[in-house]
Order: sequence, then structure tokens, then C-alpha cells
Amino acid sequence: MAYLKQQRPEKVTVPSVRSSKERGERLVCLTAYDYPTARIVDEAGTDIILVGDSVGNVVLGLETTVPVTLDEMLHHTRAVRRGVTRALLVADMPYGSYHTGADDAVRAALRLIKEAGAEAVKLEGGSSRADIVRRLVKEEIPVMGHIGLTPQSFHKFGGNKLQGKTEQAARRILDDAHAIEDAGAFAVVLEVVPKELAALITKSVGIPTIGIGAGAACDAQILVIHDLLGIAFTPTRPRFVKQYADLRRTMTEAIQTFADEVRSGAYPTEAESYPLPPDTKLDFASPENIILSNVIPDSET
Ligand code: KIV
Repeated sequence: MAYLKQQRPEKVTVPSVRSSKERGERLVCLTAYDYPTARIVDEAGTDIILVGDSVGNVVLGLETTVPVTLDEMLHHTRAVRRGVTRALLVADMPYGSYHTGADDAVRAALRLIKEAGAEAVKLEGGSSRADIVRRLVKEEIPVMGHIGLTPQSFHKFGGNKLQGKTEQAARRILDDAHAIEDAGAFAVVLEVVPKELAALITKSVGIPTIGIGAGAACDAQILVIHDLLGIAFTPTRPRFVKQYADLRRTMTEAIQTFADEVRSGAYPTEAESYPLPPDTKLDFASPENIILSNVIPDSET
């Protein structure tokens, strides 16, 4: 299989992401939460792999990302780390890990980097989080911003809804983008905002914008891997999701074929079975006390 990674083998870094905008390069970003998926996503040539707190929705079966803990993020980031060699690995800071002040934010971010191997962290919020972003950057922790629809604000927003619909709301999000850039973020996610607003932000900031439900003008695009592959069980499928495969069907069909073969006796065949070594004999005379004959002297068999 011709993996993109082989065509662009160079390691993706924070500076190379930052400068991708000047080169007019459109980066490809996806989430991953476990080792095998991370390997596949990395080997397919994805530029940025995010261990998103969407792990709560798509892996842990939670309704929102709000309950996701730092320990859970560490656990999943460690697994993903083992599968990624080329992509830039970014870990989400979960709700509550940076809301109590900059010192707590630094502590949590350092754990994601030192203990789990993330190369950068992402946190949600605009102007109100700029001081925290500035502090993390001062401590040499690269930060990706995330504005527009911020799923950790689920209760504040009353759901996951399109943001920036009015002129005033759009202006606030534009200000958020500038605040995050000024604070030193190397990229910013724009989630579920009108495409015109995303285009305006993309033009007016110097850092790459990474769109999800934000139209085609963004510098990069990100999707949740379970949405792309067709294995998400989230209650609604947002309009921006494009499903590129139907792995749920593929997996279901494989499991049903296995079940049919087990029930009919078609599996396992000789090919999936282990024969006894030729020099080993079983004592079938006393099945209640089966003894391997190769541990008994030949004279007694
Ligand atoms: O948690 C996540 O997966 C995200 C992306 C959707 C940007 O924040």
C-alpha cells in the first residue's frame, strides 16, 4: 500500500506547522486514542494527530467531554505516543485541568508532555484563556488554541451549536483568535463557525487555522477518526462530518461471519489448529487421566 508517509517522511514539528501557512501547505489532522489507530493514522501520512478529549464521546461512551479526566488523557496519549513517529502529537487538556489557574495548567500540561509524550497541548477558549496560553508558552509548552464551538462549554452553550452567528458574536471570535495568537499559540482550531468568519480569521491571523465545521478556507482540516471511519455512536451526526468508510458495517459483517463459522463448525479448520508433535503420543486408554506419553518412558506406554 502506498502510504503518504513514505512520500513525505520528514517529521512534523511545531515550527514546521507554524510555517506551513507561509508555504501555503494544507495540513491534514485527525484524532486517535489508541496504539493501532495511531499507527494507521500516522502511516497514512496525517500531519497532526490529536488525542482529543472527544475520547469521552467516541471511546468512553460519555455524552459530553466534560467528565474526561487528566488521568484518562494521559492513558490514551501514552498509547498513541507508541504508534506515532512522523505526525506532530498534540494532547487535549481536559475540562478542569487549566481552569483553576496558570500553575495548575502548567502542571497538567507538563504531565501530558513528560509522562505521556505529547509534543504540544490544546486548550479551549479565547481571550479569557490568553493568560494561561501565555504562561504555558513561557514555560516552553507549545499550545494549540481552540475557539468557536468549544465542547467543554457544553453547559454554558446549552449544547454543541454553531457559534458566531451574529456580528457581535463573530467579532468576539475574531478577537479570540487574535488573543490566542498574541499569547503565543502556534495554531488554532476553529470549530463550527460560519465559513465566512473562518475565512476572515484565516486571513487575519499569522498562525494556521485548523477547521472542523468551519469551511474550506481554513489552513488545515481536522476530523474525529471515528466519524471519518463510520464507527461513531454519537447521538447526532453533525453536518460537517464526511464519512469516508463504513467500518461499522465491515466490523459487523466480519463478526457475523465468525459467529456463523463457530456455530456451523467451519472454524477453526486444520489451518488454524496445532497438531501434536510427531514424537508425542496421548494415552487414550485412560482419558480421565490423560498423560503425555513423551514424558513417560517408552517401556510403560
Ligand atoms: O477533542 C477533539 O477531538 C477536538 C477536535 C474535534 C478538534 O477537540
